[in-house]
Amino acid sequence: MNGYGEANLLLAAEAGIRAPSLHNSQPWQFRLRDGAIEILADPTRHLSVADRSGWAARLACGAATYNARLALAVHGRPAEVHLRPNAGEPDLVARLTPERERPPTSAEQNLHAAIPRRHSNRAPFSPDPVPADTRIRLIEAARAESAWLDLLVGMTALTGFAEIADSADRVLRRDNRYQAELISWTHAGYAPDGVPVSAGAPLAEPQDLLPQRTFGDRRRTPGRDYEPEPLIAILGVPGDRPVDQITAGQALQKVLLTATDAGLAASMISQPIEVPAARDQLRRSLGRSGYPQLALRIGYGTPGRTLPRRDVTDVLLPPAEGDAP
Ligand SMILES: Cc1cc2nc3c(=O)[nH]c(=O)nc-3n(C[C@H](O)[C@H](O)[C@H](O)COP(=O)(O)O)c2cc1C
Repeated sequence: MNGYGEANLLLAAEAGIRAPSLHNSQPWQFRLRDGAIEILADPTRHLSVADRSGWAARLACGAATYNARLALAVHGRPAEVHLRPNAGEPDLVARLTPERERPPTSAEQNLHAAIPRRHSNRAPFSPDPVPADTRIRLIEAARAESAWLDLLVGMTALTGFAEIADSADRVLRRDNRYQAELISWTHAGYAPDGVPVSAGAPLAEPQDLLPQRTFGDRRRTPGRDYEPEPLIAILGVPGDRPVDQITAGQALQKVLLTATDAGLAASMISQPIEVPAARDQLRRSLGRSGYPQLALRIGYGTPGRTLPRRDVTDVLLPPAEGDAP
């Protein structure tokens, strides 16, 4: 395989499957072709209620693409990246073609090392503020991937966001089909996909500022309230076409890995993106051009645990007929 080896492309797929996805649905597939690795959306894993447009699947596949890029880079051959390389195959998200050899940078090594540690943490964080230089690193991580990350500063911006998120959450809670789909991805024990009740947020209480996804009905440890002034970041990109959402997914993963590398925890809040009216409101409230794609809560937390993934062999497509091995 062009002297690089299928083994390294498989390592890229292994890294790809550690990406986040809505309800841990893992809506991706990988294909090795002509010395390259391709990332494809898997229509059979599509969340037909929560993700009618395919936005969440594209973000997840973009994040998987970023992990795969990092893996190729740390194994000495950074990739040339083509997003949506074939107009006739809309599920084909990206093709990564390993390029000339070069040693990985320490930044690439650190972010790659963070892949197995990164996980969503829906528990309360400590009230300690995130230092200014770390905030700048997060903003620059998004910018390096052609996205923006707006950090909400001050209680006025925070409560404004909380109101939008809360109203979106109420809309989704009233939607029986949405709730049925969410429950179908929630489980009490072990599964290679979906979210266990133990990884969900504890049940909401009146003093909470933000709606956190509960995945069940776990009560909180008495006295363990959420941080009073959470750091909320809104990730966005200039456009809202499928390719823009894939770009946003790559930036999302770079921001999350940068946070992990800096010792931070994060959870994702997508209710205000999932409900169109709330997303419009959020967009206007930011007073900038472009489209918000996801909200993140970032802070110092007690590490939780990583959730299982399906095995890489379950997401590897056979080479197409007539392909070079
Ligand atoms: C597009 C997208 C939207 C998400 N929305 C939420 C959300 O609203 N609430 C939440 O708790 N987690 C959300 N997540 C996180 C997933 O639930 C999480 O990535 C998945 O369960 C896998 O767990 P991990 O992040 O610990 O690997 C979202 C992830 C993605 C990619």
